[in-house]
Formats: sequence, C-alpha cells, structure tokens
Amino acid sequence: MSPFEGNSFSFPTQGENLVLPSAVELKKEPPKGEIIFRKAKPRDMVKIHSLINHFAKEGLLLPVSLNRLYDVVRDFWVAQVGDEVVGCAALHITWEDLAEIRSLAVHPAMHGKGIGRKLVKLCLEEAASFDIKKVFVLTYQVEFFKKMGFREIDKKFLPHKVWNDCLNCPKFPNCDETAMLIELG
Ligand SMILES: CC(C)(COP(=O)(O)OP(=O)(O)OC[C@H]1O[C@@H](n2cnc3c(N)ncnc32)[C@H](O)[C@@H]1OP(=O)(O)O)[C@@H](O)C(=O)NCCC(=O)NCCS
Repeated sequence: MSPFEGNSFSFPTQGENLVLPSAVELKKEPPKGEIIFRKAKPRDMVKIHSLINHFAKEGLLLPVSLNRLYDVVRDFWVAQVGDEVVGCAALHITWEDLAEIRSLAVHPAMHGKGIGRKLVKLCLEEAASFDIKKVFVLTYQVEFFKKMGFREIDKKFLPHKVWNDCLNCPKFPNCDETAMLIELG
C-alpha cells in the first residue's frame, strides 16, 4: 500500500515495502554522446546525489541527503550525456542581491571538457535573470573559480544567514573553504 493512500500518512517501515532509491556507483567509463545542459528535474536527483556524494567522500563537497536535494530541485542545472548526469551545479538564492553556487560537480571521467565552466556560466546567467548582482561560493577550487571571474573575499562579509547552513555542516566551526565572490555587471 502506498504511504499516501487513505486520509492519514503512514510511512512504511524498513523491510515492509519501503522503496527508496539509493545512491548508485558512478560508471568508470565516460558516457559517449552530445552534452546537453538543462534545468534539473526530480528524476535526476538520485544521479545528482551519487555525483555529489562521490566527491563528498573525497572531502571536496559537502555531503547532502537525497531528502534535502528534493527540496532544492529547482536550484539545479545538470549536464547530461545519454541517460547519465555528468555534471551538476546549484544556484541558491540567499538574499535580495546575493546567491550562492553550490554542489558543483563534474563526473571524474568528464573533467577538462568545459562542463564545469558552462554550469557556472548558466548559474551566473540565471542569477542575472533574477537581477542578482553578487554570487559567492565556498570552495577548495580557488584557481578554477578565479578563471570563472571570482575573487577571494573574507568570509565575514557574507551575511549571517549563510552561517545557518554552516551550523549543520560536519566541518563547523573549522571551515577551511575559501569564500569567493563575483559581481555581475
Ligand atoms: C572543479 C570542477 C567542477 C571543474 O570542472 P571541469 O568540467 O573539469 O572544468 P572545465 O573543463 O570547465 O575547466 C574550465 C577551466 O578551468 C580549469 N580547471 C578545471 N579544474 C581546475 C582546477 N581544479 N584547478 C584549476 N583550474 C581548473 C581548466 O583547465 C579550464 O581552464 P582553461 O579554460 O584555461 O582551459 C571539477 O574538477 C569537479 O567536479 N571537481 C570536484 C568537485 C569540486 O571540487 N567542485 C567544486 C565545489 S565548489
């Protein structure tokens, strides 16, 4: 029985009929074909989850739950080849004039093909379409983001709201990521 049947919500217990998609291992071989860039859909989130958590294991990205990802589907852009999601990035609006790029990840077999650059560009164009003038990132990829036009800033210039998310971060309070900002023309 679906947990949504009837008038009340009953969540199935483990082993009964709980069917939640789980993270899948990334394929080793790069998928072949045209790279398509588009906004994410809910059906992409399991693959996005796998991509993010692949790099989270290496300490390069913050781990994120599938549950949380469904809350922010509309933040995400994806790069797709065939049925595979080979890249993702999220633009999360923080304030009237400020947004953050989060969860930028490109499949390890697809690095160096301009996918990361294009995903960042799409996020920045989306920010501009919302009249947002400043976009920041907390990252270890300082040289990559410099190439994208970002500059290093002191974390203390980011609004307090940003630190709400940090409270839930496993690295809090010892954040060693670099804050970077780009001001859009
Ligand atoms: C960082 C990352 C997104 C880059 O994606 P990518 O698709 O390989 O990057 P691109 O091919 O678009 O590279 C664009 C430019 O940046 C350079 N570049 C790419 N990765 C770089 C890095 N780690 N450091 C410095 N420069 C880098 C490329 O050489 C290229 O330069 P060019 O235009 O002068 O030739 C990818 O390496 C990745 O997923 N890393 C692991 C997750 C991560 O750290 N994400 C960032 C979280 S904020």
